[in-house]
This record gives sequence, C-alpha cells and structure tokens, in this order.
Amino acid sequence: MKIIMLGAPGAGKGTQAKMISEKYGIPHISTGDIFRANIKEGTELGKEAKSYMDAGKLVPDELTVRILLDRVAKEDCRDGYVLDGFPRTIPQAEVLDEELKKKGDQVDRAINVDVPDENIVGRMSGRRACLKCGATYHIEHLPPKKEGICDACGSELVLRDDDKPETVKKRLSVYHEQTQPLIEYYEGKQILCTVDGTKDAREVFAAIERNL
Ligand code: AP5
Repeated sequence: MKIIMLGAPGAGKGTQAKMISEKYGIPHISTGDIFRANIKEGTELGKEAKSYMDAGKLVPDELTVRILLDRVAKEDCRDGYVLDGFPRTIPQAEVLDEELKKKGDQVDRAINVDVPDENIVGRMSGRRACLKCGATYHIEHLPPKKEGICDACGSELVLRDDDKPETVKKRLSVYHEQTQPLIEYYEGKQILCTVDGTKDAREVFAAIERNL
C-alpha cells in the first residue's frame, strides 16, 4: 500500500503517518525528518536544506525528489510506504507518478488531514520533536511520559527552529500557494480522502482506517 499524507504544516500528518506505519507494517518516510537528520549530522545536504527550512520555504524540487526516490528504492519499501511531507508541489507528484508508472504501480491513497490555519500556530508552539527518531509530542495534547524526553528512544525533545510563529506563518502561506493544489490533483485521480484533523488524534486515525 502506497499512501500519501497531505495537509498544512502541523495538521498532524506525522502523528497519523506513524500510526499508519505501525498498524500496516509499512515504513513512515518523512522528507522533513530526512532533512533534519542531515542538518544534525552536518552533511552538505543538511547545510543546503537548512537555509530553506529556517526561512519557511520549500527545499528545491530537484534535491527533494532525488532524496525521496533513493529512499523508496530501498528494500523495506517493497510492500509500500506512507509518505509524510512528500509530494509538496505538483512537479514532485508528477515525478513520483512517473517513477511508479515505470514499474506498473501507482499511489493507492492520498489522505488530506484538514485543519484550519487558526488552529495551527498553537499546535506548533506546543510541539516537541525528537530529532533522533522523529517522534512528535505536544505539551498539552500528547505529552511524553517524562517531560522533555522521547518515550521511544530516550533522547531530548526540542522545539523545532521552524516552529517559531513567524516561520509558521510563512510555511502556511507556502502551503496554500504550492501544496494545497495537490488536493485537487489527487481528487482528479479519485484516490483522495479528507479527514477532520481538528478531532482527537485517535478519532482522526479511526477515520483514516475507515478509508483505507
Ligand atoms: P516537515 O517536517 O514535513 O513539516 P510540515 O509539513 O510543515 O509538517 P509538520 O511536521 O510541521 O507537521 P505535521 O503535519 O507532521 O504535524 P504533527 O503530526 O507533527 O517539513 C519541514 C520543512 O522541510 C518544510 O518547511 C520544507 O522546508 C522542508 N521539506 C520537507 N519536505 C519537503 C518537500 N517534499 N519539498 C520541499 N521541501 C520539503 O503534529 C503537529 C503538532 O500537533 C504535534 O505537537 C502533535 O502532537 C499535535 N497534534 C497532532 N495531531 C493532533 C490532534 N489531532 N489534535 C491535537 N494536537 C495534535
């Protein structure tokens, strides 16, 4: 099963992708996590991506597509994957479709986690992220068992650099301009389902399960 998560920054794509990955036994692939891991390791890719991410902009398609295609070519993706944060532009979606088509394959489902902009800024300022394993928490809605420590791997949790309110506003405007058109793109392919992302995370997941 090949699943795509769509939605504004902070809509809960990562939270739901993790649950899908655990339930269906397919890898959760987040381009944002791949970039953040590279930033942490100080790679050339990380240095290039950081300048765009800190400004709330998208990393250029050419770079992002190359990384994504390398990742989905790995053995653990043979039976499918859930993509979180990719595609983010129509050209990215088209490249993915072309690559899958070469293998007689296609995306099975695009899940749009719908959350209005006014809910987003509060969510982001309360988010705490583990830069080691990619787990995400919220200080009110989804706190870790021990404050500031990742339940999954025991690393320190941080407020992401791009979760500051000014950057979040920029990310939202980039989302509306460049990523939102993908909703229509997948609607046209009749594989889109939209769920209400303002509900409790478990209720959102139940709605996704009904659609898979
Ligand atoms: P990325 O890491 O993908 O960030 P994003 O899309 O902006 O999404 P987020 O990770 O911020 O949010 P999310 O929707 O996953 O929400 P989450 O589950 O964490 O990308 C970062 C940057 O990398 C981009 O800005 C760009 O520069 C670059 N990039 C990445 N991919 C790219 C691409 N394909 N092309 C170009 N550039 C790319 O939830 C948010 C918070 O809310 C958490 O605290 C969570 O606990 C809480 N929460 C979740 N669900 C609920 C709920 N139902 N109710 C209440 N709280 C909830």
